[in-house]
Amino acid sequence: MNLKSNPTLKKIARRLRPRNEKVIQKQLSKLCYRSRLLSSVYYFLFDRSFSREYQAVLAGKVKHLKEAERIKANYFLLVRNTHRIEKGLLMRPKRNVFAKDYIAETVDSFEGVWKNQQDRNNPQIKWFTDVLTEYFAGASSDPEVAKSANRFHKIIGTTTDATGSATDCKAIPYVRLDQDKSNISYDELYKLSRQRRSVRWFLDKQVPRELIDKAILVANQSPSACNRQPFEFRVFDNPEMVKEVAKLPMGTKGYEHSIQTMIVIVGNLDAYYDERDRHVIYIDASLASMSLMLALETLGLSSCAINWPDLEPRERKMEKFLALNKHQRPIMCLGIGYPDPEGMVAFSEKRPLHQIRSFNHTDK
Ligand SMILES: Cc1cc2nc3c(=O)[nH]c(=O)nc-3n(C[C@H](O)[C@H](O)[C@H](O)COP(=O)(O)O)c2cc1C
Repeated sequence: MNLKSNPTLKKIARRLRPRNEKVIQKQLSKLCYRSRLLSSVYYFLFDRSFSREYQAVLAGKVKHLKEAERIKANYFLLVRNTHRIEKGLLMRPKRNVFAKDYIAETVDSFEGVWKNQQDRNNPQIKWFTDVLTEYFAGASSDPEVAKSANRFHKIIGTTTDATGSATDCKAIPYVRLDQDKSNISYDELYKLSRQRRSVRWFLDKQVPRELIDKAILVANQSPSACNRQPFEFRVFDNPEMVKEVAKLPMGTKGYEHSIQTMIVIVGNLDAYYDERDRHVIYIDASLASMSLMLALETLGLSSCAINWPDLEPRERKMEKFLALNKHQRPIMCLGIGYPDPEGMVAFSEKRPLHQIRSFNHTDK
């Protein structure tokens, strides 16, 4: 009997193969987790789950280094170094000369960004300029720093205040004033955090773009490592596109048709020159997303965070839909809309405080 041509046997073989593969993978993983080398071998030979991430990290690193070394206009480097200089300016006690090892590359990138700036209203240009002006005012006694100071002043021209009038508020370290503080109470914030629940049923009502923008402006104030903000919010409110994108993650089954606006949050790995920072896109984007979700609630809107699964066929579809570059990774999605008052919301009781918090190794 020809086993290969027997359809029943073929069917059984097809069913058994993935199961066998899974069993073998399970056994191998039990063996390989014991050493880093074996773990690498395992993920190289038997499981390619990380391959897309590897490539994205490397593509981001190469893009970052190229822009810093060849083009000398690396925006992320300039943001990071401006942040580092601000930290030097606010240090106690303050040193007169610091940042000597990176001031030349900072001015390189400043020059590139300054010359290529297309958006004259970009407030970060003023921030770079003000911080560097303040830094050079204090550190130019050092001959090496003085060279960079001369270059900087040549780039911005003779005016000391190239991006605003002398009376403008300078974008440099400052002391916080009581009158500028928010009067939102803890109780109000706690109430808002309880009000925000994952909502999956929305009214069939368009979400105004101004409200999305307002919520993103709140998200934009979130902390991020070295202020690099390595993320983008790709917003979809065209019904056909929402339909298409809502199908891409796995977790929208059953309610995808209810989503009015969908945001895909994308991470940019070209913000880093080193693998040590490869997780920061996820951290920074998540912090911003949390603020975004709370802001939506204050605007009468609700949302549901939606997981982005790192599964090759879905990755390929999302890559195509968003026209992503190799260094860009989808991080998560947000389904948004006006909450349907009749739609139910999961209670989602949270873990007790003592389970998630410890002081000095104890929960007391
Ligand atoms: C990273 C992340 C991924 C999530 N993925 C999904 C998802 O795919 N589908 C879904 O319906 N809900 C998803 N959720 C919502 C969670 O189920 C929800 O946050 C959790 O059950 C707690 O409920 P709460 O948001 O109402 O407090 C996700 C939430 C997060 C933070």
